[in-house]
Amino acid sequence: MATQLKVTGADLELIDVRKDFPGFTALDDMDLHIPAGQFFALLGPSGCGKTTTLRIVAGLETPTQGQVLIGGQDVTSMKPHERPVNTVFQSYALFPHMTILENVAFGLRQRKIDDPVAKAQEALDLVELGHIAARRPQQLSGGQQQRVALARALVNRPSLLLLDEPLGALDLKLRRQMQIELKAIQMEVGLTFLHVTHDQEEAMDMADTVAVMNKGRIEQMGAPEALYDRPKTAFVSKFLGQSNLFVGKVSDSNDSSVSIEVGGYKVTVDKKRAEKHTGKIAIGVRPEKATFHTSKPNLSSDHVMIGEGEIIDIRFTGVSNQYLIEIPNVGEVTVFAQNIGKSPVIELGAKVWVSWKVEHSFGLADLPDGSEEQD
Ligand SMILES: Nc1ncnc2c1ncn2[C@@H]1O[C@H](COP(=O)(O)OP(=O)(O)OP(=O)(O)O)[C@@H](O)[C@H]1O
Ligand SMILES: [Mg+2]
Repeated sequence: MATQLKVTGADLELIDVRKDFPGFTALDDMDLHIPAGQFFALLGPSGCGKTTTLRIVAGLETPTQGQVLIGGQDVTSMKPHERPVNTVFQSYALFPHMTILENVAFGLRQRKIDDPVAKAQEALDLVELGHIAARRPQQLSGGQQQRVALARALVNRPSLLLLDEPLGALDLKLRRQMQIELKAIQMEVGLTFLHVTHDQEEAMDMADTVAVMNKGRIEQMGAPEALYDRPKTAFVSKFLGQSNLFVGKVSDSNDSSVSIEVGGYKVTVDKKRAEKHTGKIAIGVRPEKATFHTSKPNLSSDHVMIGEGEIIDIRFTGVSNQYLIEIPNVGEVTVFAQNIGKSPVIELGAKVWVSWKVEHSFGLADLPDGSEEQD
């Protein structure tokens, strides 16, 4: 790989950004700071405001309120071409009548930059397409065309690269391969990547920091491991992986933990892993942290135990088996068990008890939809 194409990343700051479209607020109080050189993923469901955020950073949309700073400089009123930013979109309109080398050199020629061909070749080498620089776009696979689009953005040496679902059009295998390549390129050129996706695996796999967006706001942001381990809202706990959530009033509290009562069982969380310690709260646990037992287990107080319940669904997904367990007065609980070929043969309708270590519980700041009204 060529190493000359070294560009330095700049940090990006959004301060109190708001975007109103007629009759609709797409972004609300967005505050974001992405340190230089980071791979940052913006993750959220369709319509939550991801593309709008990128368009505001690129200068294609004017914020109703707030500021955009790149490398410490206020660019809020700068034109798109004046900003040290390039965008790679999901659709990568390449010119069909030009070679891919000319496709990459095109923008440089237009801006009368010296040595456009040499610079374009260097960018193609970086995405490992240098050897087929003379081909035309239709002679490339989807993933190769995507890499040309990336080279076309990198050749401009932006300090900030915006990627809007760039891998969305690729099949799963190619998508996973491009994720690895994209991450390697980001580390090699050292620039700041702001990557938009609604694929949670992609975000967790690639990013140094993930921000989970919902309805025009960032609900939570942090390292992927931290977000997965300690989701703070019901939305984040369900959007990033799966969660079992239990809602109840705090019935017991000491220096280190709080417990709620749910259907006659006691569900406990460590205080330092809970956002709220009083009133009605939601406590969650990830399905792979829970286990089930075929007879009532005798566990110490560092475990939560609920049951008995009944297995109402079993899914075999290859690496793990997923069990859905109905517990009277509690609801459905999901348990993942690694498929190591040793697990007891269990059948639909089997009676089981579910347990997990208290240290794996997490306490949310809000309640899941629909649980506010009920008592
Ligand atoms: N020009 C516009 N006028 C009015 N509403 C708009 C406009 N552009 C976007 N919106 C609305 O703003 C919201 C956010 O749109 P945005 O394109 O940022 O979503 P997104 O998170 O990128 O979604 P997706 O994952 O589907 O691409 C949507 O509800 C959308 O309908
Ligand atoms: Mg979008």
